This record gives sequence, structure tokens and C-alpha cells, in this order.
Amino acid sequence: MAETKQRRALITGISGQDGYYLTRFLLERNYEIHGIVSCRAPGIGEAGERLYYADLSDGSNLGQILDKANPDEVYNLAAQSHVRLSFDLPQYTANVTGIGVLRMLDAIREYQQRAGKQVRFYQASSSEMFGKVVESPQTESTPFYPRSPYACAKVYGYWQTINYRESYDMFAVNGILFNHESPKRGEAFVTRKISKAVARIKLGLQDKLSLGNIDAQRDWGFAGDFVEAMWLMLQRDVPEDYVVATGQVHSVRDFLDASFGHVGLDWADLVETDQNMFRPAEVDILCGDASKAREKLNWQPKVSFEELARMMVDHDLELARQEAGQ
Ligand code: NAP
Ligand code: GDD
Repeated sequence: MAETKQRRALITGISGQDGYYLTRFLLERNYEIHGIVSCRAPGIGEAGERLYYADLSDGSNLGQILDKANPDEVYNLAAQSHVRLSFDLPQYTANVTGIGVLRMLDAIREYQQRAGKQVRFYQASSSEMFGKVVESPQTESTPFYPRSPYACAKVYGYWQTINYRESYDMFAVNGILFNHESPKRGEAFVTRKISKAVARIKLGLQDKLSLGNIDAQRDWGFAGDFVEAMWLMLQRDVPEDYVVATGQVHSVRDFLDASFGHVGLDWADLVETDQNMFRPAEVDILCGDASKAREKLNWQPKVSFEELARMMVDHDLELARQEAGQ
């Protein structure tokens, strides 16, 4: 029987939430994983054999990394991904989250010529690009209306991905992913901020939780489900862009109900408003229509909103118990 060659994937942003789940997903499929970590990662200069230090604001070593990793697939997950922070750091966000995509695409284009092979490229595009939505639910053909420096940077990366696909015949796709969460979610994002506070309040480690706009509504899914869609997009014969979403909308209030309710607490007296958490321009509601992903990729989410909230709270309860020495 002919042996199939082990495929190699290079993941930027491998230390982030999606990098965690995608790495595990690809390892289960016998990929050899190579990852790019930023200068904020611990152990500078001591990265393992398949980990490389690079910053998407500096393209100088991306070509060398591609030569070493020799990837079949590149997943570009690295970004300054916090929307609120992008208002404080608009130029940095544009550089990393926007022009960083161009640096990756250009490095891959040159690498393909050197190596004489085609690389499949995934760009982590975002539902934030729909921003002040012009129609609902949002599909692949809904016009963008970005409402933050982050969203503007993502729109730039989205179009460069299409531009390189059309100009240089590259296999480059955008996954337009709606919010997805998990126990690995960064603690500055609202769901994780809530699940962590629920656990710490329950164990007496914290009294209150400060939040911004709790009327905001999102289409929240589980990161472990969403990384499968990234991979499926790169397995197609033709490179195309896809919306990935659950189609279910919930408010921050709903997440408070589900997560505090899971431990038998009423959040009404425990949550206070902090004006600093509000954004200069808000995205009020996002709701995705993932029909195309369902039909062409045979993809669908498995974890429900309530299961997601419980999973995150249970994980943070365990961490809080450790913190409390229990
Ligand atoms: P995340 O947890 O914030 O991870 C971002 C990753 O990017 C981290 O590994 C980070 O490494 C790295 N990074 C940041 N700045 C960098 C730089 N200048 N150079 C190199 N690496 C840098 O984000 P995520 O939730 O996994 O999301 C993955 C991608 O999908 C991001 O591009 C995000 O914008 C996009 N996205 C996310 C969602 C969502 O709901 N999660 C939805 C749509 C799109 P350090 O920590 O070392 O800086
Ligand atoms: N972070 C945060 N912190 N958000 C809060 C808070 C708070 O204390 N209080 C209310 N919110 C509201 C925000 O105003 C926003 O409307 C909503 O909760 C979700 O905020 P985040 O969890 O920070 O996520 P996001 O929707 O802004 O962005 C995430 O999803 C995008 C996809 O739509 C990020 O992962 C982006 O990188 C991603 O592209």
C-alpha cells in the first residue's frame, strides 16, 4: 500500500486560543506542526525545533521560516485581536492585523517560487468586518461596515488575501469567523472575563464583576468546532471564502444568566458597569448565516451556547480552586 506523505502546517498565532485547538485538531490528522510565536512568548531564543520567533510587524525573517518549515498549509491566526484595545493602538493594530497579512502573503508568494510548490493559505478574517450590519443574518456577500481600527485592519487583510488569490493564482482563503470561545479564550474577552469572575466569586476570591455594554449581542460558538472549518476550507479543490457561525444570537446578559446560573448565583447584585469598558463605536449585534459552509464543507457546530458557558465556568472553577488552595 502506498504511504501518504505527512503534511506540514505552519500556524502563526499558535499560542492563542485558536492556535491551541487547531494544533490539536491537525495533530489528530497526523500533521507535522510548525508555529510562529511572538516576542512576548516566554523563553526567547530557546524555541523548540518547530517553533520560530517572528512578529507580523516585521517581515524580515518570514521567508527563512517558510524555508525551514516547508509547509503545505499556512494558517494565519496571529493578530492584535482585541477590539477595544485597537482604539488605543490603531496604528499598531493596522500594522500587525492588517499589513501583517500582506507580509505573510508576499513571503508565501516568493517561497512558492523558490520551492516550486503551492501552499494553501488560511486568513483569519472576522465577523467584526460586518460591524454596523447592513443586513441580517450576514453571509459571504454582505457588504462590510467596519466599526473599529481592528475591523478596518481585518478588511484590509481580507482584500489582500483575495487580491493575491486573483493576481498570483494562490490558494488563499478567508474564513469569516463569528465569535468563538472556550476555556482557552483570552481573559480580556467578555465570555472568559465572566466565566473567570463567576468561579472566583463562587469561591469567595472576588466580590464584583465590572463590565461595559451588556446589551451587545453576538453569535457565539465553540472554538474547538470552528477550527475544523478552517481546515475544511483548505481541503477543497477551489479556494473560496466562507462564513463560519452558529446562526444563534445571544446577549452578554444571556451569557451572564447561563454562567452565573450554572453555579446557582444571581448576577444582578454582582455585576457593575464600568464606562472604561465601553467602546467609542460599538457593534450592537452580529448573526451569521453559515449555509455555504454547511453545504460545501459539510460543517456544522456541535457545542451549544449553554454547553459552552458551562464548559468555561467548570474550567475556571478548577483554576479558582487551585488559586484558593482547595
Ligand atoms: P488570540 O487568542 O488573541 O491569539 C492571537 C495570537 O496572535 C497570539 O498567539 C499572539 O501571540 C499572536 N500575536 C499577536 N500579535 C502578534 C504579532 N505582532 N506578531 C506575531 N504574533 C502575534 O486570538 P484567537 O481568538 O485565537 O483568534 C485567532 C485569529 O482569529 C485572530 O487573528 C483573530 O483576530 C481572529 N478571529 C478570532 C475570532 C474569535 O472569536 N476568537 C473571530 C474571528 C476572527 P502573543 O500572545 O505572544 O502576542
Ligand atoms: N471585552 C469586553 N470586556 N467586552 C465587553 C465587556 C467587557 O468588560 N463588557 C461588555 N462587552 C461587550 C463588548 O462591548 C462587545 O460588544 C461584546 O461584549 C463582545 O466583546 P469581546 O468579547 O471583546 O469580543 P468582540 O466581539 O469585540 O471581538 C471578538 O470577536 C470578533 C469576531 O466577531 C474578538 O475575538 C475579535 O478578535 C473577533 O474578530
